[in-house]
Amino acid sequence: MSQRIKIKALLQSTQTDVEVTVKGWVRTFRNNQFIALNDGSTNNNLQIVVDFQNTDEALLKRITTGAAISATGMLVASLGKGQTVEVKATSIEILGDSDPEKYPLQPKKHSLEFLREIAHLRFRTQTFGAIFRVRNSLAFAVHQFFQNQGFVYLHTPVITASDAEGAGEAFKVTNFDLANPPRTEDGQIDYKQDFFGKATNLTVSGQLEGELGAMALSDIYTFGPTFRAENSNTTRHLAEFWMIEPEMAFYDLQDNMNLAEGLLKYVISYALEHNREDLEFLNQRLLEEEKNKPQNERSEMTLIEKLEFCLNNDFERLTYTEAIDILINSTPNKKKKFQYPVEGWGTDLQSEHERYLVEKHFKKPVILTDYPKEIKAFYMRQNDDGKTVGAMDILFPGIGEIVGGSQREERLDRLEQRMDEMGIPKEELWWYLDTRRFGACPHSGFGLGFERLVLFVTGMGNIRDVIPFPRFPKNAEF
Ligand code: 4AD
Ligand code: MG
Repeated sequence: MSQRIKIKALLQSTQTDVEVTVKGWVRTFRNNQFIALNDGSTNNNLQIVVDFQNTDEALLKRITTGAAISATGMLVASLGKGQTVEVKATSIEILGDSDPEKYPLQPKKHSLEFLREIAHLRFRTQTFGAIFRVRNSLAFAVHQFFQNQGFVYLHTPVITASDAEGAGEAFKVTNFDLANPPRTEDGQIDYKQDFFGKATNLTVSGQLEGELGAMALSDIYTFGPTFRAENSNTTRHLAEFWMIEPEMAFYDLQDNMNLAEGLLKYVISYALEHNREDLEFLNQRLLEEEKNKPQNERSEMTLIEKLEFCLNNDFERLTYTEAIDILINSTPNKKKKFQYPVEGWGTDLQSEHERYLVEKHFKKPVILTDYPKEIKAFYMRQNDDGKTVGAMDILFPGIGEIVGGSQREERLDRLEQRMDEMGIPKEELWWYLDTRRFGACPHSGFGLGFERLVLFVTGMGNIRDVIPFPRFPKNAEF
């Protein structure tokens, strides 16, 4: 028996008139003769031509959409349109039947909402095959980018006792019998008796532990799942998402921005180079989708043009203060078109404001720096003006915030003072403060939301469609 060959390799091979064996899932079976077979290695299907006159009727009936088959035959130049080669089958074996009456994926267009309900099968569609191959490439490119520059991949814990962002959005981790947890004398839950001897939660960010690594290894990055119990039912939020968090000793805010911009451009160009077919398919998908929109809501650029534009242009860099000026004087603000009017310095930016800056005003990715300290986390480095911190957020078209980062406060007295002001318990973060006691140095880092990146590169509209099994309020299916 000849060795199985993946369809991607087969479609690239120039050698015809050889016997091959392919295995995959039937997408369609036309005229009792033409099978479109897909094995996930590429967006393209392979055409298998069945000699139906010499094939058992019972076998032909079992070649149905969704069935797993093995086919052996001659690889020949194709006479039909749409493919250069096809396989003239000499034998077909059904590995797994798929009852066409019951199989939920019919060979027709299904809505993304419906496919989300059958996420266990949606990988088998062209759209999701393309998305998850692109996601895979982006993850690989992230590692390659950092590894090429000597960064150390550091695995920070998933279970922690701290809330790095201090936003109180952590999922609790406990081993207690919830109906009857042990209590202290004054009636509080006694976490000393819990599994870890203290209250613990799923991490919201690996940053604090990442900083510890950077204070010895110089440049580290994390890339793992993070969890947030924020009740945000939006197309940009997940309760479980993957984050890439580099942390670099001796980097100031400028270095930090340069690294982040370099990373984004590197991974986007990697996908353009290695996932051309998938991106062209997604490009086309978006064009079709946009046909149903009124002219003024359609994008000015196609997906691929948007990605190339992002590579070929410097991101616009400006301060929060400059951005607020632009927003206050903007037409939508004056005409009261924003849901949250921009009244003055100090307000947090909503995604409608971020998207105005990126999509309408600058028409390119934007890096905003130096935010008011009141709207940012305790660990960000305080600027000399006493009002702002060395923060940087990167805003992308169609997405809003894709990266959040800062230079870190390395001065012990300033850090402790800020923690006091914000009510962050210093005793619990004694280990974090130790790095400011022993060999502290200027350092910086950021967090890139991986799904927001995949959203941007695939042109999809909902973050729930770019992670295999999304977790969001009231949903943990699969
Ligand atoms: O801005 P955030 O909250 O920053 C941090 O967690 C820092 N500790 C990062 C650091 O400096 N090391 O989150 C960083 C990024 C956001 O810009 C966004 O892309 C993504 O993580 N993100 C989410 N993605 C999906 N669902 C959510 N609920 C997200 N919350 C944040
Ligand atoms: Mg943020």
